[in-house]
Amino acid sequence: MRVFVAGGTGAIGGHAIEALLEAGHTVTALARTREKAATLTGQGATPVMVSLFDRAELAGALAGHDAAVNLATAIPPMSRFMSTRAMRDNYRVRAEGSAALVDAALAAGVGRVVQESVCMLYRDQGARWIGEDGPVDRYPMTRGNFAAEAGAHRFTESGGGAGVVLRLGWFLGPGAAHSEQLLAQARRHVGMVLGRPDGYVSSIHLADAATAVAAALDAPAGTYNVVDDEPLTKREYADALARAAGTRMWLRGPGRAACLLGDRLTSLTRSLRVSNTRFRESTGWSPRYPSAREGWLATAQTLLT
Ligand SMILES: NC(=O)c1ccc[n+]([C@@H]2O[C@H](COP(=O)([O-])OP(=O)(O)OC[C@H]3O[C@@H](n4cnc5c(N)ncnc54)[C@H](OP(=O)(O)O)[C@@H]3O)[C@@H](O)[C@H]2O)c1
Repeated sequence: MRVFVAGGTGAIGGHAIEALLEAGHTVTALARTREKAATLTGQGATPVMVSLFDRAELAGALAGHDAAVNLATAIPPMSRFMSTRAMRDNYRVRAEGSAALVDAALAAGVGRVVQESVCMLYRDQGARWIGEDGPVDRYPMTRGNFAAEAGAHRFTESGGGAGVVLRLGWFLGPGAAHSEQLLAQARRHVGMVLGRPDGYVSSIHLADAATAVAAALDAPAGTYNVVDDEPLTKREYADALARAAGTRMWLRGPGRAACLLGDRLTSLTRSLRVSNTRFRESTGWSPRYPSAREGWLATAQTLLT
């Protein structure tokens, strides 16, 4: 297939471009700077410098492609998670950028749109497994994700082709800024546990998120959770991180106290035991790292050696 990628220069994007090329696709990717364009060329993709907000430019760039993949986000680093301005920028990319890409894909006759989203938009379900039809929660941080998902569904409904939404778990792996920070903290014997220690976290290694993007090119239209096989409790997750870092945690926190920070952080404080069954059964995809235990070991091996 000829695949156009927006956000191909980011944390997940770099892995996704490689996975798409490895699967035999021809890849064009949006670049915003010459440096990023050169990186894309080095990977084997063709860079195009167009604006994500300019429908006409995008439609021109999309002409002749079979699929458009949207991985563009402007999620702030964890230190700026509470910043309204930073979240506004992210909302613009997710809402306006995704809508423009869908309009352009329709105008250019592209047959498929794959839209990245997150599984943190489900409601806290305690220890219950969460499928794609589980109840969602429209708190402020998720507005952009819901808007982006709506774009993909609009693409399907308009008869343009298949719109596929991938609700990704909490990233881990080299290149994911927050997971590099967590590993560095663990080396200093500090473990982060956000929310109840017996609450669940559903994670995905970036390399597995990338193969899921490639697998999504054959998925029927719809919404899919892309997480590893075994969500861990937050306590188990912190232990897995400590083991991978080769340390013991002397300090763990902030635990339940993090809930006091309100709904900007609830994406991370809630308990999410998310199931990947629908995506596995629809595409045959399976994660290389079945849980954060293996994911963290591989990440530490890359980052610490
Ligand atoms: N599920 C999760 O856990 C999750 C999800 C998302 C993000 N994160 C965290 O946030 C970080 C971001 O990961 P990510 O891959 O989603 O994001 P990222 O590494 O920040 O990459 C975002 C991508 O979107 C592009 N982009 C941003 N603004 C754009 C705009 N206005 N127009 C066109 N393209 C634009 C970026 O282009 P440039 O390269 O030109 O900037 C880049 O290609 C990770 O390091 C991770 O820590 C976590």
